[in-house]
Amino acid sequence: MSLLKAATDVRENAHAPYSNFKVGAAIRAASGAIYVGCNVENVAYPEGTCAEAGAIAAMVAAGEVELVEALVIADSPLPVSPCGGCRQKLAEFGVQDVKITMTTMAGNSAETTIGQLLPGVFTAEHMKDAL
Ligand code: THU
Repeated sequence: MSLLKAATDVRENAHAPYSNFKVGAAIRAASGAIYVGCNVENVAYPEGTCAEAGAIAAMVAAGEVELVEALVIADSPLPVSPCGGCRQKLAEFGVQDVKITMTTMAGNSAETTIGQLLPGVFTAEHMKDAL
């Protein structure tokens, strides 16, 4: 299955009664397996989680810790851009040149990389003298 189809399908399951903005994400892990996630909102608004976070959690729960590609989709006028927190989460599990496709339900698509999304990323290297 393609990342586009996987993310499009899982987006239907998004729980977004507060924003009415459904998001789907699909990740291809190093094994080739695809993991998906959708946004899950909560009446206590800050407790909501993003689609990308859900897909990453599914990957890790399945025992994988390296992502090689990701795609995110929403019904937005412009290709949906991962939030700041999700950029840091993506950077935890993917190298800088991992391709991230951002797309809309209408097919307006853009490509970027983890490195472009989060220049100056905070990494374990910054903590090496403390560990
Ligand atoms: N959202 C995502 O799931 N991923 C993104 O990349 C952008 C935003 C969700 C969070 C919230 O449920 C809704 O979209 C509106 O911000």
